[in-house]
Amino acid sequence: MTVEAEITDPGERELLDRVPTQLLLGDGWTDAAGGARFAVTDPATGAVLAEVADAQPEDGERALAAADAAQASWAATPPRERGEILRRAFELVTARAEEFALLMTLEMGKPLAESRGEVAYGAEFLRWFSEEAPRISGRFATAPDGKSRLVVLKAPVGPSLFITPWNFPLAMATRKVAPAIAAGCTMVLKPAALTPLTALLFADVLREAGLPDGVLTVIPTTRAGAVTGPLIRDPRLRKLSFTGSTEVGRRLIADSAEQVLRVSMELGGNAPFLVFDDANLAKAVDGAVLAKMRNGGEACVAANRFLVQRGIAAEFTRRFTERIGRFRIGRGTEDGTTMGPLVDGATRDKVAQLVDGAVADGARLALGGRRVDGAGYFYEPTVLADVPADATILGEEIFGPVAPIVVFDTEEEAIEIANSTPFGLVSFAFTSDLNRGLRLAERLDTGMFGLNAGVVSNPAAPFGGVKQSGLGREGGFEGIEEYLETRYVNIADPFGPEE
Ligand code: SIN
Repeated sequence: MTVEAEITDPGERELLDRVPTQLLLGDGWTDAAGGARFAVTDPATGAVLAEVADAQPEDGERALAAADAAQASWAATPPRERGEILRRAFELVTARAEEFALLMTLEMGKPLAESRGEVAYGAEFLRWFSEEAPRISGRFATAPDGKSRLVVLKAPVGPSLFITPWNFPLAMATRKVAPAIAAGCTMVLKPAALTPLTALLFADVLREAGLPDGVLTVIPTTRAGAVTGPLIRDPRLRKLSFTGSTEVGRRLIADSAEQVLRVSMELGGNAPFLVFDDANLAKAVDGAVLAKMRNGGEACVAANRFLVQRGIAAEFTRRFTERIGRFRIGRGTEDGTTMGPLVDGATRDKVAQLVDGAVADGARLALGGRRVDGAGYFYEPTVLADVPADATILGEEIFGPVAPIVVFDTEEEAIEIANSTPFGLVSFAFTSDLNRGLRLAERLDTGMFGLNAGVVSNPAAPFGGVKQSGLGREGGFEGIEEYLETRYVNIADPFGPEE
């Protein structure tokens, strides 16, 4: 981006001046070692929003030391107290929803309406896990031979490192932080360098909600590997949770092997979206628009491949293209904007390359297909029709507003195409046949499935994938288990003979 811009809006300036820009370490806000800082920019204009402290390896070490020091007393804090901190945080985030929404729009680019949606979604993890904290429980049993009693206990895993992405700067943090607080784990949070401001404001809110010093430290950095690598190899760390690409996740899993860390990995996707001839077409088009365009397509759950049965393919493509054509590109703060910029130049280049490659592979450009000239990383919403089954784009996670459509004939063929990927995060299908829906639920090889639904994300549900889309679940009853160890006590038979 070449255009230099400045923040001139007084409301934006006032908010940016209030957001913390230092690291949060065990004893509060502090500068990075050597005073290092980096610029956070607005992807719609290139304007510098803030200069943020750039954590160095010694800051990472201080963060982990703080998490380690706070672990025992935090684990001993009554669950109800931990839950009440989360509940207060839910209320504070909700009361300050407009600030969080504006900040996310400024640093990540999505339209304000989408940011507001993310604030509500992200806050719900705080509320859900505030309710889970007092419900952590174990069990008691008589051993099958009757000779002893078995007590099963749950204990916090311990200091945890969170590496969060730029696409949902608040929700991906609350989805990890809230269950860890509920379970009694201390945390080091490394937010994405493109969007650290939301995480810093969130940390400030948690402090206001009563989170004790050291329980959460926040270390934005442009030196991710140099800062987090030593933490992952440090025996004080007990858990790593990462949301991001499969490529990086694979490396982190390998690094985690050294200390045999518990890992949760929420990795890439290649979601198939199936539309059958018997689907309610209007609902299928609504679902398809949502599944593709939520977050401008920058979501690992975004529909990546539209598989449409031949009988309705032409009409689906016509209606879907018409709806996608209504999206209005602009800075996310502007009235009427329904799609913001992509987050950076590399993301836009990748999207452009995939579209050009698809056209070279024989796809027909039904809409869009170009970068938007001028400031900002804008790319036109794009529909690719008649995409050949072997086109490269179908094997890649697009992470942008591009919808490739492939035609199929039979249910069997659709399932085979849908499953022909190493990824298995989510799938979607629209059909009026409930038996078919149940067959698909069992045969589509993904951790989540939207049946006649274009979105699956819900704080009360276990979010996560199979195959190379990850390990572990976030949200739901399952989400807190990622932060709990199971321990067992064998009690000798109370009725046995006295020695
Ligand atoms: C993601 O894209 O990483 C998460 C999306 C969601 O939670 O819905």
